[in-house]
Amino acid sequence: MIIMKKRKFEQSDFWKQINESQLSFNKIDNIDDFKSSDINYKIALFNPKTNGIRYLKTLIFNIASGLNKNEWTLLQNIAKRNFGKPITITYNNQQICLDYVQAIFELTFLLKNLQLGDASILEIGAGYDRTCHAIISNCDIKSYYIIDLANCLQLSRRYLKKVLPEKDYGKISFIRESNLSELGGIRFDLCINIDSFDEMNHDVVEVYLSFINQRCNFFYVKNPVGKYFDKSLDDHSQGNQVVELALSQGVLKDVIDIHNNVEVEKQAEKFLKAYSPGKGWQCLSNSWAKPWSYYWQAIYEKKGDQ
Ligand SMILES: C[S@@+](CC[C@H](N)C(=O)[O-])C[C@H]1O[C@@H](n2cnc3c(N)ncnc32)[C@H](O)[C@@H]1O
Repeated sequence: MIIMKKRKFEQSDFWKQINESQLSFNKIDNIDDFKSSDINYKIALFNPKTNGIRYLKTLIFNIASGLNKNEWTLLQNIAKRNFGKPITITYNNQQICLDYVQAIFELTFLLKNLQLGDASILEIGAGYDRTCHAIISNCDIKSYYIIDLANCLQLSRRYLKKVLPEKDYGKISFIRESNLSELGGIRFDLCINIDSFDEMNHDVVEVYLSFINQRCNFFYVKNPVGKYFDKSLDDHSQGNQVVELALSQGVLKDVIDIHNNVEVEKQAEKFLKAYSPGKGWQCLSNSWAKPWSYYWQAIYEKKGDQ
């Protein structure tokens, strides 16, 4: 029989420190909520309040591990996507950030339903415009019009100039939201709205939908299906006023549990009605827009002038 020396099993200094602090006996007297407390953050779960980057990187890593061959090809076709120092992980020797894997999911959904070769595209509310970057890098489109507020318009103008070759950059027109008339009588094959109708005044969304109804053949929309009021998600860190403002924007203002798939799917029925540009439009396809639990996407086609 082997007899181990007792001290071999002694706790390390590392665990001694834990047992004297987070796991001290008085702290584990009551274990009613220990799984979401410092106790479990020393056992099974990284503290989500202080490990945001870790969770983000884990999310990106998991997504990257599930990308298929076609998605990798679309991603690799987008040069200079690491400009601007995004938070990335490395997978298959590629640096990957969350923005561009989302762009790949959006583009894949679009390409399942549409041919974008030679298309004339209008995007409303573009941010720095990863979407334009992803589309132009993968499809030989004719033109890309961006409508946005002055600040993001300046950002996308500067960003796209940095990341796109001259020839592709030359296909883009930048239009202030107040200058829709600059578009003249152009008809667009496709209009895109990602994550921004939800942040505009209700009547502004209605004006844009009416514009799409009159001037576009297809409409791709990806937005939240509703609002949320769960302080545990962000500690309302930007203050109550910003929370109130966010709750008041857009056309889908129901407050739901955004991490309940049944509630999200139910709310998606309202989403599909709210974002249809008009009576003559038909929804060709719609689905949950991963990875965020409460985003939905749909593509509509104009079938007639009703
Ligand atoms: C959250 S960002 C989303 C950007 C981008 N689509 C993305 O997903 O990365 C919202 C965008 O909507 C734009 N926006 C807000 N109000 C607008 C309006 N009235 N007209 C046009 N764009 C607007 C903002 O300037 C910004 O570019």
